[in-house]
Amino acid sequence: MRTLIPREELHTRLDQLAAQISDDYSGKKPILICVLKGAVFFMADLARRLDFDLELEFMAVSSYGASTETSGVVRILKDLDTDIEGRHILIVEDIIDSGLTLQYLTKSLWSRNPASIEIVTLLNKPSRRTAELPCKYTGFDIEKEFVVGYGLDHAEKYRNLPFIGVLDQPE
Ligand code: IMP
Ligand code: MG
Repeated sequence: MRTLIPREELHTRLDQLAAQISDDYSGKKPILICVLKGAVFFMADLARRLDFDLELEFMAVSSYGASTETSGVVRILKDLDTDIEGRHILIVEDIIDSGLTLQYLTKSLWSRNPASIEIVTLLNKPSRRTAELPCKYTGFDIEKEFVVGYGLDHAEKYRNLPFIGVLDQPE
């Protein structure tokens, strides 16, 4: 395991993202949608830095299972508990890789007639993108390495690490 982004760096960047999001969303009472499970810590740490009215929602979509490669299959496993018609939506994601998951998700959410949808992702692997996806807020652009920690897992392991690390040899 190699440290890619230490804890302090994550929190400094979160402060910057929160300032930017506050400027854009203050007074709009947005709904932040956390994509489970990887984005839980990011959502919690980001939302606590936002000093305006907002709501928190959670969705779960199928992803890679125990493998490190995409299956190409995206399914909604847990849907929203609320109606989003006319509301401003900010999707909170841990990492964008191919972009397929969020492309599917945003399409599904647009069909429910929200006022707006934007994406905030902690990590982005631009070199891996196959789906076109506008992402307004990005924490860090990274190389095409497999990363874990701060919510991100490999076969459900490593989510509780307080930093982002690289698994050089996925077990
Ligand atoms: P995409 O649909 O290819 O963009 O995949 C996005 C999802 O795959 C993320 O939300 C993660 O759950 C998972 N994923 C992609 N890359 C990594 C990684 O490096 N480590 C852990 N999970 C990853
Ligand atoms: Mg995810």
